[in-house]
Amino acid sequence: MILVTGGTGLVGSHLLLKLMEQGLQVRAIHRAESDLFKVERIFSYYSDQASTLFKKIEWMVADINNIPQLEKAFEGVRQVYHCAALISFDPNDYEQLHKVNVEGTANIVNLCTANPIVKLCYVSSIAAIGKSNGEQKATEENEWSHPHASVYAISKTAAELEVWRGSQENVPVVVINPGIILGPGFWDSGSGQLFHRAHRSPSYFPPGGTGFVAIADVVDIMTTLMESDIKNERFIVISENLTYREILQKLTLAMEKDPPKKQIPYWALDILMPLDWFWCLVTGNKRQLTSATVFSLKNREIYSNDKLIDRLDYNFEPLDRTIAFSTKKFMEENPL
Ligand SMILES: NC(=O)c1ccc[n+]([C@@H]2O[C@H](COP(=O)([O-])OP(=O)(O)OC[C@H]3O[C@@H](n4cnc5c(N)ncnc54)[C@H](OP(=O)(O)O)[C@@H]3O)[C@@H](O)[C@H]2O)c1
Repeated sequence: MILVTGGTGLVGSHLLLKLMEQGLQVRAIHRAESDLFKVERIFSYYSDQASTLFKKIEWMVADINNIPQLEKAFEGVRQVYHCAALISFDPNDYEQLHKVNVEGTANIVNLCTANPIVKLCYVSSIAAIGKSNGEQKATEENEWSHPHASVYAISKTAAELEVWRGSQENVPVVVINPGIILGPGFWDSGSGQLFHRAHRSPSYFPPGGTGFVAIADVVDIMTTLMESDIKNERFIVISENLTYREILQKLTLAMEKDPPKKQIPYWALDILMPLDWFWCLVTGNKRQLTSATVFSLKNREIYSNDKLIDRLDYNFEPLDRTIAFSTKKFMEENPL
C-alpha cells in the first residue's frame, strides 16, 4: 500500500493520477474539509477513465498534525509520498507554517520509523537550497543560510531536516527540491496564481528570476526515484531557469495577451512593500510583498539540474508544452 499526503493539491493530485494509472494500491489522506472533487476534475483533464480511477483511491481523513488519525492511515503502508504542506510567504503565518510543515513532517517521519516503510519521498523546495552565486548555479550542496529567507523557506528547510533525521533512523528517503511548478487546476493558490497574474496582462515585470518545472516532470521524477535504488539523496528539480520577464512573456503570449514590457524599478518594490503591509492590515489579505519576497523578485537565482539528469538520465518535457496545456485549461475555466 502506498500512502500519499497532500493528494488534493497540485502535486498530490497529479501524483495520484500517475499511481492509479499504474494500477497501484493507494491510500490518500485529506482533511475533513478538503474538496475531493477537484482531484477528479484534475484526472478528467488527462483521462476519460477519471471517475473510475478516482474511485479506486482509498481516501481517509487524516490531518498531518493529528497523530491518532495518522497512525490509522499508516496501517499496511510500505511507501510514503509526503506532499502536504502549507504554502504562504506571509510572516503572520509563521506559526501555522511551523505547525503544518515542520511538526507535520516530523509526525510523518516518526510514523515511518515506527512502521516497516520501504521508502519515503519528501517534496521539499528550492527554497531549501542555498542561493546561487552570481553566474554559478546553485547545486544540492549549496549551503542554505537564513538572511533573506522567507517564512516558507525557513519552514521547508526545517521540515527537510526532519526527513534527514528519518534517514539517520533507518528510513530510506528521497528528497526532491522543485522550482516553481507549472500545472493546471489550482489557479487560486501557490504557483497557480501566476496564471491570474498573466491573465491581467501586467505592464511591468519584476527584475529577478528563478527555476521552473512542469508538474508532469515532478511526479515522473518522484515515482522514478521511488522505484530506483537511490536513497538518502536530494535532487533539485527544475527544467529551466527563467527570468520573471521570460515566464510572464510565455504565459501572456499563450493567453494571447500583451506581454509586460517595463521592468519594475527596484525602488518601486521597496515603496510597494510597506503599502502591501498596510493594505493587508486593513483587508486581512495575505501579504505578498515581504522583505524576503521583494529580495527574490529583485534577484535572479539559477539552479543546476545536472545531478538529476546524470543520475536518472532524465529528459525534461518542454515547459512550453505545459504552459500551452495549462493556459488552455485556465482560459476554459476563467473565461472573463
Ligand atoms: N507549487 C509549487 O510551485 C511548489 C514548488 C516547490 C515545492 N512545492 C512543494 O510541493 C508540495 C505540494 O505543493 P502543492 O503545490 O501541491 O500545494 P497545494 O496545491 O497548496 O496543496 C497542498 C496540500 O497539502 C494539504 N495539506 C495542507 N495542510 C494539511 C494538513 N494539516 N494535513 C493534511 N494535509 C494538509 C492540502 O490539503 P487540503 O485539501 O486539506 O487543503 C493540499 O492537499 C508542498 O510540499 C510544497 O511545499 C510546491
